[in-house]
Amino acid sequence: MEAARRVALITGATRGIGLAFAREYAQAHHRQDLILVGRSEAALRDLVKQLRKNQGGRIEIIVADLSAPDSGEGVAEQVMALGMKVDVLVNAASADHVGDFIEQAPQTAQAQITLQCAAMVDLCQVLAPAMVAQRSGTIINVAAAGGSQPRPYASVAGGVAAFVLSFTQALRAELRPQGLRVVAICPAPARWLGLSASTSPETLVKRSLRAVRLNRATVTPGWRDALAGLVIRVLPTRVIAARLRRRR
Ligand SMILES: NC(=O)c1ccc[n+]([C@@H]2O[C@H](COP(=O)([O-])OP(=O)(O)OC[C@H]3O[C@@H](n4cnc5c(N)ncnc54)[C@H](OP(=O)(O)O)[C@@H]3O)[C@@H](O)[C@H]2O)c1
Repeated sequence: MEAARRVALITGATRGIGLAFAREYAQAHHRQDLILVGRSEAALRDLVKQLRKNQGGRIEIIVADLSAPDSGEGVAEQVMALGMKVDVLVNAASADHVGDFIEQAPQTAQAQITLQCAAMVDLCQVLAPAMVAQRSGTIINVAAAGGSQPRPYASVAGGVAAFVLSFTQALRAELRPQGLRVVAICPAPARWLGLSASTSPETLVKRSLRAVRLNRATVTPGWRDALAGLVIRVLPTRVIAARLRRRR
């Protein structure tokens, strides 16, 4: 008898890490139905067309601006309306801003906090109970290497990464005895450091899925990400700030 299909809900599915997760989960061997969440209906529909070439399962889209208050709950209601039970939640939507804090529009900071903290927490809160009831499920949240350290000139992004890492590790400790796997992905914050991305989203996803299989707490996708995390942790924040200031 064939194993039952599972359902993965992916936010930020139209680009970057979220898109790489969508492509990977669309591979037939994962036996995964998909719910793709994004802001642009046209981009999501294009993606569904591409993914259909690989997978014959169910693919649904939910159009949502997750920077709007209570949008996480709205997504959960739409999942209920679809009649699908989510086994895997990937929170990859993001809107990082790099630059001087005082030049940033207040709504930009608020939008990032709502998107990456509030909506992420809401989705975990609404979707985790069904996973607990079946004593299996996976939650993957995207944080960053050196995630608990401050990031001058990306102050809100740094605060958000620290929140995601702390929240994810605490949630893991609570839900692990109930059969869930909860993982934080920690790629190097390349754009903030003025570097090109050290690990491709595709490699990052493959390593993340391996970490889920091994039930690891965090994924640092490559040695450059690990090195960046170490440097961020070891160097005093004022030294990092001075270096970034010189580059501007
Ligand atoms: N890639 C890296 O090297 C790297 C390194 C360190 C940390 N990270 C972290 O990883 C996360 C993802 O990075 P990424 O490179 O994959 O980002 P990305 O390529 O910029 O993709 C962001 C995704 O989030 C979606 N999104 C943005 N605002 C949204 C909103 N208001 N509502 C719903 N969806 C929204 C985007 O959709 P639209 O197409 O609608 O904009 C897009 O699909 C971030 O937290 C980032 O800080 C990434």
